[in-house]
Amino acid sequence: MILLLTVQFLYGIAASVDFPANLGIQRCNQIPTPQFDQCFTKAVNEAIPQLKDGYPRLGLPPLEPIKIAQTKSRQDGFEINLSDYELRGIGANLIVKRTEFDPKNKILNWYGTVSSLLIEGEYTIEGKILTMAVNGGGKFKILAGNISSELKTAFEVKNIKGVDHMVLTKTEYINRDIGSASIFFENIFKGNKAISDSINAVINDNWREMDALTNVFNKALTVFVQNYMGKVYSKVPYDELFPRM
Ligand SMILES: *[C@@H]1O[C@H](CO)[C@@H](O)[C@H](O)[C@H]1NC(C)=O
Ligand SMILES: *[C@@H]1O[C@H](CO)[C@@H](O)[C@H](O)[C@H]1NC(C)=O
Repeated sequence: MILLLTVQFLYGIAASVDFPANLGIQRCNQIPTPQFDQCFTKAVNEAIPQLKDGYPRLGLPPLEPIKIAQTKSRQDGFEINLSDYELRGIGANLIVKRTEFDPKNKILNWYGTVSSLLIEGEYTIEGKILTMAVNGGGKFKILAGNISSELKTAFEVKNIKGVDHMVLTKTEYINRDIGSASIFFENIFKGNKAISDSINAVINDNWREMDALTNVFNKALTVFVQNYMGKVYSKVPYDELFPRM
């Protein structure tokens, strides 16, 4: 008992920021059992509501909403620049269904669902969408339901000033399924509301075939996740996140 307390005490001192212990959630020891993934999935789901408004000690931004200053994308015949936009629903509605942690191959994969996601902000666009010429900009709004996605990450373990830290080496965000979507791009055909409305109607009928549109947000989320996990990994020692027995 005393030994245990001492170990915990030392552990607390050694830990630069005492995370995730500060959130009062369980740490999952790296015992190679299927229970590890269950333990970690549960811990993450407990952590998300607490990280919703951000975690300044680690420099973590809020998850509700996620604010993104700029995303530029050029593919499949059109160029779109998004600015000052927000994603609402990830901090509030994300449920991590499963995680896969493989310390040997240094892989951490996440599988989750978001029941409802609202993305809103400003945009400019130029090019062709589904053979229709587009050239405009203004506000945009996308409401998506029942999104299933995967996040595949890989890492290295580096000794930084005597302490092991994870370093993210790969991040891949993939949408597996989107249940529903309603999309609006204001003034997508500059100065002509009737044409803009009909382009929006076509987009709403065909968004499932428009990978290019989904990819814009996948790209933005990948960058967000890279920064977010990068901060956690650089500030919290490996053994504090995933204690090795
Ligand atoms: C997007 O931004 C780039 C660089 O800032 C600019 O050159 C391009 O014209 C913009 N595209 C649109 C569609 O606004
Ligand atoms: C998500 O799926 C559930 C169950 O199939 C359905 O009731 C709900 O309306 C869906 N939500 C959205 C936003 O599509």
